[in-house]
Amino acid sequence: MSEISVRALGEEDWQEYREIRLEALKESPEAFVATHDEESGYEEDRWRDRMNRSRRLLALVDDVPTGVVSVGRSKTGPDVAELFGLWVRPDARGTGVAWRLVEAGAQQAREDGRTHLAYWVGTDNGRAVAFASSFGFRPTENRRPMRVQSADGDGEETEIAMVLPLGSDPGAVPSSLLH
Ligand SMILES: CC(C)(COP(=O)(O)OP(=O)(O)OC[C@H]1O[C@@H](n2cnc3c(N)ncnc32)[C@H](O)[C@@H]1OP(=O)(O)O)[C@@H](O)C(=O)NCCC(=O)NCCS
Repeated sequence: MSEISVRALGEEDWQEYREIRLEALKESPEAFVATHDEESGYEEDRWRDRMNRSRRLLALVDDVPTGVVSVGRSKTGPDVAELFGLWVRPDARGTGVAWRLVEAGAQQAREDGRTHLAYWVGTDNGRAVAFASSFGFRPTENRRPMRVQSADGDGEETEIAMVLPLGSDPGAVPSSLLH
C-alpha cells in the first residue's frame, strides 16, 4: 500500500516546488493561467519570493513528489484564504492524493485564522469541480471569465468560485463570496 504524505515547503525548498510546478504547467496547460514557457524562465529570486508569498504544499507518494497546491490570500477579504494551483500527477489521480493536499491546505488556512477557503475553478473542468464538490466545497453565484481560454473554446469559458467553510458554522458564507 502506498503511503501519502504532505509537506509544507519553505523558501529553501524552492527547487522542489519549481520542479513540480513546471511539470504541472506542462501536463495541464488548460488548467492554469501561467504557462510553462513563462515560468521556466524565472530566476531563483523570483522562485524564493513565491515560496514566501503563499503556502506551498507538496504531496509525496512513497516519498516521490506527486502533487502540489498553494494557499494564499484572497481578494475577497482577510477571513478568506484562496486555494489554487492544485495538481496531481495523472497516474496518481483518483487515489486520494488531491484529498490529502486539500485537507492540508484547509488545515493550514484554519491555522492562519481564516474562516473560509475559496477555490476558483473552470466550469468546464468537470473533474476538478466534481472533486471539490465531493470534498465539501459549495458552488457560489460568483463567476468570472476564465483568465485562460482554450484554443478550441468559444472564448466564453468561465470560472466559478467554490467555497469551503472552515469553522464550526458550515452555513456561514461571506456575502462577498456569493456575488
Ligand atoms: C483536479 C485534480 C487535482 C483532482 O484530483 P483527482 O485525483 O483527479 O480527484 P478524484 O479522482 O479524487 O476526484 C475526481 C472526481 O471527479 C470524478 N470525475 C472523473 N473524471 C471526471 C470528468 N471528466 N468529469 C466529471 N467528473 C469526473 C471522479 O469520479 C471523482 O468523483 P468522486 O469523488 O465522486 O468519485 C486532478 O484531476 C488534476 O490534477 N487535474 C489537472 C489539473 C487541474 O485541473 N487542476 C485544477 C485547476 S483549478
